[in-house]
Amino acid sequence: MEKNTLAISRRAAVAAAAGAAVAASIIRPAMAATAQILGQVPKGKMRVWQVGEQKSFETLSMVTRPIPTPGPGMALIKVHYAGIAARDQGIAMNMFPVPPGPRAQTLIPLSEGCGEVLALPPGETRIKIGERVTAPHWAQWVSGPWSPANYVADVGNTIDGWLGEYVLIPTIALVRVPDNIASEHAATLSGSGVTAWHALHEVAKVRGDDTVLSLGTGGVSTFGLLFAKAAGARVVVTSASDAKLEQMKKLGADITVNYKTNPQWGKEVFDKTGGVSVVLENVGPATLDQSMAACGNNARIVMIGTGRPPPTPPNMNGMYLKNLMLKAISAGSRTMVENMVTAMSHGNLKPAIALTVPFDDARRAYTEIRDGDHLGKIVIKVAS
Ligand SMILES: NC(=O)c1ccc[n+]([C@@H]2O[C@H](COP(=O)([O-])OP(=O)(O)OC[C@H]3O[C@@H](n4cnc5c(N)ncnc54)[C@H](OP(=O)(O)O)[C@@H]3O)[C@@H](O)[C@H]2O)c1
Repeated sequence: MEKNTLAISRRAAVAAAAGAAVAASIIRPAMAATAQILGQVPKGKMRVWQVGEQKSFETLSMVTRPIPTPGPGMALIKVHYAGIAARDQGIAMNMFPVPPGPRAQTLIPLSEGCGEVLALPPGETRIKIGERVTAPHWAQWVSGPWSPANYVADVGNTIDGWLGEYVLIPTIALVRVPDNIASEHAATLSGSGVTAWHALHEVAKVRGDDTVLSLGTGGVSTFGLLFAKAAGARVVVTSASDAKLEQMKKLGADITVNYKTNPQWGKEVFDKTGGVSVVLENVGPATLDQSMAACGNNARIVMIGTGRPPPTPPNMNGMYLKNLMLKAISAGSRTMVENMVTAMSHGNLKPAIALTVPFDDARRAYTEIRDGDHLGKIVIKVAS
């Protein structure tokens, strides 16, 4: 498995750890009387997965707990589907760096999901009982620029995630899911979907005359292809697998390049396109040299992947020579999720889902994403 190895400043890590402690104290089931809440909390117990000792995927465990009553600022959701993202592997194995682990063994993992609102705190008017919802995993990032303070409420990391029959999610994060977006599809948006949306629409301001390079065929890359094609752009995809490249062509990719058979794939992309104008750098610093080689003048590179750095740092001369722009991003805000969901509903856009695994078999989602044979997203069916 690829580790998240980018250096995180000590100050950011400490601030995030402090934030997580505050979150743990403010985000918990209410002691308040059930009569005061909107909707209903089912009586009885629920099954949830918890991260446990965080030594391997085997130390994830399924447990039974009482169904919680939502306290102030929290909604009780009956989960339909949960989605797994690359970072969830690191969280399950105490290898995700912010905040420094290990996390509480009782933490419910997974950053992405979709379900139905069953109960809300009194006075909540933005979201209604019975609506299907998803949420950005940065639960308190509503709009505006990114801040590491968002780690205070990071779903599936510093607060409970979606891998349970019922979960508590902060109401401020909830985004209504339109009727024409299936729950299975909505459960892929909080991490992978909104990252590609943020990169293309907020940073690159993608247009029909752009040529977008989206590295790989995983969750973020397939969303990159989906949203770039919807914007009218030409799309180039790279993969180690010719079979996956064929599949990406069927999903709309205009040009495909195998990075395994041609280590100088950046030049091949440049030669086939005349230079791309946008790069979704879904791998990390290790591919930056080739990504820069693929670029035309003034291209925008959005840094998404957090993969291991290369032994030799990228040669930044390419940045100056071509006047490239480089911007890193962290998933996205609630406003970005809302805009993306609206566009998906209007355009009837559907994510690529490689595999749906049953709730009882959730560990398989982790091993499948680690093994990397998938194209697109892996989701877990919890209930429908
Ligand atoms: N910054 C953020 O907010 C953010 C958000 C989400 C994810 N991420 C990060 O972005 C990365 C991708 O996430 P994901 O969820 O899409 O992961 P994923 O589903 O596991 O996909 C990883 C993809 O990387 C491709 N890949 C690996 N090495 C490559 C190389 N040398 N050149 C081109 N492609 C290569 C693989 O393509 P093939 O199998 O086709 O070869 C694979 O499809 C991860 O590092 C993740 O941590 C960051």
